[in-house]
Amino acid sequence: MVSRISTNNRRWLLLQVTLLMLISEVTSSDLPMLNINQTQSSVESPVLDPQPVFPLLAPSPLMPFIPIGVPNLTGKCPLNFSNAERVLTTTAIDCWDSLAPYLANAVCCPQLDATIKILIGQSSVASRTLAISEAHAKDCLSDIAQILEAQGSNSRLLEICSLYPSNLTQATCPMINVTEVENTIDIPKIIESCGKIDPVKECRHKVCESAIMDAAVEIASKNYSMPDMVEGLLSLERLAMIDDCKKIVIRWLASKLDTSDASKVLRGISSCKINKVCPLVFPDVKNVSKECGNTISNQTTCCNAMENYMTQLQDQSFVTNLQAFNCAYSLGSSLQKANVSNNVYNICRVKLKDFSLQDSGCLFPSLPLDVTYDESTGIGFKCDLNDNVAAPWPNSQAYSPAPSSNMSTSNLPALPKAASDHSGKLISSLLRN
Ligand SMILES: *[C@@H]1O[C@H](CO)[C@@H](O)[C@H](O)[C@H]1NC(C)=O
Ligand SMILES: *[C@@H]1O[C@H](CO)[C@@H](O)[C@H](O)[C@H]1NC(C)=O
Ligand SMILES: *[C@@H]1O[C@H](CO)[C@@H](O)[C@H](O)[C@H]1NC(C)=O
Ligand SMILES: *[C@@H]1O[C@H](CO)[C@@H](O)[C@H](O)[C@H]1NC(C)=O
Ligand SMILES: *[C@@H]1O[C@H](CO)[C@@H](O)[C@H](O)[C@H]1NC(C)=O
Ligand SMILES: *[C@@H]1O[C@H](CO)[C@@H](O)[C@H](O)[C@H]1NC(C)=O
Ligand SMILES: *[C@@H]1O[C@H](CO)[C@@H](O)[C@H](O)[C@H]1NC(C)=O
Ligand SMILES: *[C@@H]1O[C@H](CO)[C@@H](O)[C@H](O)[C@H]1NC(C)=O
Ligand SMILES: *[C@@H]1O[C@H](CO)[C@@H](O)[C@H](O)[C@H]1NC(C)=O
Ligand SMILES: *[C@@H]1O[C@H](CO)[C@@H](O)[C@H](O)[C@H]1NC(C)=O
Repeated sequence: MVSRISTNNRRWLLLQVTLLMLISEVTSSDLPMLNINQTQSSVESPVLDPQPVFPLLAPSPLMPFIPIGVPNLTGKCPLNFSNAERVLTTTAIDCWDSLAPYLANAVCCPQLDATIKILIGQSSVASRTLAISEAHAKDCLSDIAQILEAQGSNSRLLEICSLYPSNLTQATCPMINVTEVENTIDIPKIIESCGKIDPVKECRHKVCESAIMDAAVEIASKNYSMPDMVEGLLSLERLAMIDDCKKIVIRWLASKLDTSDASKVLRGISSCKINKVCPLVFPDVKNVSKECGNTISNQTTCCNAMENYMTQLQDQSFVTNLQAFNCAYSLGSSLQKANVSNNVYNICRVKLKDFSLQDSGCLFPSLPLDVTYDESTGIGFKCDLNDNVAAPWPNSQAYSPAPSSNMSTSNLPALPKAASDHSGKLISSLLRN
């Protein structure tokens, strides 16, 4: 039997309405271009202008639909935003207003994270330091959020992406001086490994990732006063320090690359991590196991229960094809543990794409993706065309352990080629509905 899984929940309707409103006004608009001409108050200056005048982002007559405002900047952040205008604009669209919560995991937050590293990296060329001081971190975070919001991003972005001032500081890494860092790390190795990456190869072989790791270990080892080993294992403090130093190394790397190349590299590295997990929250499966457990007595009621269950997943988030694969595997394992031994994906025709946001949603490709904005078609993004495949049912015995976290990409379906993507224009597909 066919179980068409769809949802029409209220939140999604709200989103549709928002986007429809956007398109109705979109015709005479232009991409919101960030135009920052900083008259930055000097960081050294102890007396800060309480009302700094930032003639930024004067709304041009060509951008009426975007909630463009003048960002309310603190004037106390030492970052030079004009170095990263394009990346900031990309981020604002990737974190677009009401779409941001649905894009958070796969697109928006990784892009925002990359942007912050690029901003700090680029600013280090002049400041010679790879971290924002604790005194300024809060102001910088606020300024970044303000600049993005002025270009249309969600106003709760920092909350959505769990960003705190500590994400801009050196945290526990003992070294942030560019000169000292460059004297410590193997510069040619990092540039060669990370200057350009193929995200598919990188996720498999981790060449760049391990070059960054090696450099981070070198930097972290500059703090001799910390115990390295506890009973033969690296101490937790040392591990946390290495992790913090990885961020310093990535910021340094970003300072050596053109901003758009840096963005590609950073997103490429983060996509490996993103694709390894399922970002969905699974509700209790007992409603499904009640109808589908042991021997299925009534296929209709079983698939109805399954459909209801899937509906609860489908208003959560866009997921990539590899994430959907992990989600299918996780849910399948939970169901098997709850005595659902029949392949209910097969019986109820659950597809991989059913794990992503529904209706106008689709599965994203596993490669890093940016949301696009086009004057005539509005907000758009690429979808993975191969999303209509059956969700994989774990073929192990019931009661098998949960999917191992060591599942590597090589166990997963082939990554889609860029050529197999099609451009999913969200707004036009909404209009068709
Ligand atoms: C910034 O201002 C300077 C001079 O005031 C001008 O020459 C330059 O074009 C401006 N840059 C941008 C990006 O608007
Ligand atoms: C700008 O931000 C400051 C500090 O958060 C606040 O006191 C002020 O009211 C804001 N100004 C505007 C115009 O929103
Ligand atoms: C910011 O960077 C731009 C381009 O690199 C440079 O022209 C400008 O002087 C810098 N602004 C400040 C305040 O350092
Ligand atoms: C920001 O910091 C918080 C806590 O300090 C941490 O949990 C989170 O992972 C950090 N986010 C990023 C993007 O590094
Ligand atoms: C080195 O580690 C110790 C112990 O965690 C810490 O107290 C100290 O501040 C660190 N030194 C530097 C320079 O980070
Ligand atoms: C970085 O370290 C070098 C050499 O140790 C020193 O001359 C320089 O002043 C330091 N720069 C900063 C910004 O602390
Ligand atoms: C289970 O079914 C009941 C009754 O239909 C419903 O109220 C409840 O929300 C469902 N729970 C889950 C976790 O699906
Ligand atoms: C299955 O359940 C449905 C709805 O409860 C019912 O209409 C149908 O007759 C049942 N089918 C069988 C074969 O029992
Ligand atoms: C699964 O079935 C076994 C044997 O029929 C039973 O003991 C167990 O409680 C069931 N587990 C769940 C989660 O229903
Ligand atoms: C994953 O871990 C399991 C159990 O820890 C192990 O049996 C299996 O060989 C591992 N698989 C891979 C690909 O490393």
